[in-house]
Amino acid sequence: MWDKEKKKHIGDHELRPESLMMSYGYLPEWSEGAAKPPIFQTSTFVFESAEAGKAYFEMAYGLREKAPGETPGLIYSRLNNPGLEILEDRLTVWDGAEAAAVFESGMAAITTTMFAFLRPGDVVAFCEPIYGGTEYLFHEVLPQFGIETACFPAMEGMAGLERVLAEGDRRKRLRMIYVETPSNPTNALMDIRACAALAKRLSTAERRVVVAVDNTFLGPLYQHPLKLGADLVLYSLTKYVGGHSDLIAGACLGPAEFVGQVKVTRTIFGTMAGPWTSWLLLRSLETLKLRMTSQMKNARHVADWLVEHPKVDRVHYLGHLKKGDPQYDIYKRQCSGAGGMISFDLRGGEAEAFRLLNALKLIKLAVSLGGTESLVEHPATMTHSDVPPADQLRMGITPSLVRISVGVEHYDDVIADLEQALEAV
Ligand SMILES: Cc1ncc(COP(=O)(O)O)c(C=O)c1O
Repeated sequence: MWDKEKKKHIGDHELRPESLMMSYGYLPEWSEGAAKPPIFQTSTFVFESAEAGKAYFEMAYGLREKAPGETPGLIYSRLNNPGLEILEDRLTVWDGAEAAAVFESGMAAITTTMFAFLRPGDVVAFCEPIYGGTEYLFHEVLPQFGIETACFPAMEGMAGLERVLAEGDRRKRLRMIYVETPSNPTNALMDIRACAALAKRLSTAERRVVVAVDNTFLGPLYQHPLKLGADLVLYSLTKYVGGHSDLIAGACLGPAEFVGQVKVTRTIFGTMAGPWTSWLLLRSLETLKLRMTSQMKNARHVADWLVEHPKVDRVHYLGHLKKGDPQYDIYKRQCSGAGGMISFDLRGGEAEAFRLLNALKLIKLAVSLGGTESLVEHPATMTHSDVPPADQLRMGITPSLVRISVGVEHYDDVIADLEQALEAV
């Protein structure tokens, strides 16, 4: 039997997350002594007996309470798979979450979680800018199911949130506050603690207001929303956690009760991660801290260099926030590092941005982020192209804005590439 808490300690000594990434959630004796969890590439699992099969279904579908010492059995890979379960246990470590649910994409995690919690008549308040796919879900998809969405600029902070909630009877119908912080692509921050305090104030016995945070940009190393009072943390694991630009995956973490609710919806939607994706993510988790530490160090050098360049108008980088800026106060309170994401406005417009993008030799022109290689893209015409131009401008997504995800290359090489490409502008 595997004791979750005991495995986090040697005697009284508490092991750090990076030390647990090679072992937590798995015992070699489960798999012929294999040091690493094998890939259980199977759709279904054979029951020892009809009675065992019946018991497993009763537990999986919540038809009865578990008896003391009874463990849920493996049934079918849409419900459970050893690789997925080991991964979910291991992923909880960084955020200090009770439970995790892993999905085949970040959007699968977000949509499944929305449909697990929201019902017709509910209101979701969310800040902008936000990843383009999530923006589309909130503006175009959820309203078709009678769910009202209310957006406000992240730069307006809690005043913006209060302003949109003051309209009509939204406060009474509020079911979720959804924040992506730092936001994609401008690194705007929202105060998670303040959102949690407001949600608590507006919650009633019948209606709990849930705070959900997309932690893709800084997590799970440099920001821990559950510790700041959020109820749910969402990830595109495609990014820093996967970390090699070779898989698509997502996650939802939080209290066991909430994640259990999400998993019921996941079972029916069929959005869980498969065995191969789960195995790749387990492998990636082992080097997560090494990669993110290197990406953050490199990003600091790149941002410091960009800010001095005459063709660069403005750099959006958390490490450059200055005392006196309300965003700086939020950063100091809730983030433990600036991460590896930078966006910057060139002097000029789309033509200048495209000249830079087309001249790069080492840095790859591709959407996505958080991988070992540096990636660069043009939010206005790529990741956020379905946001109407006027809204883009309101959110700070200008025609000259370029987003760079700094990788693990030597920072001098990344800077040399940017330098020669900026000559073409
Ligand atoms: C902040 C953020 N959240 C969610 C997503 C969606 O994740 P996925 O592409 O894994 O579905 C992305 C993708 O770029 C993202 O940047």
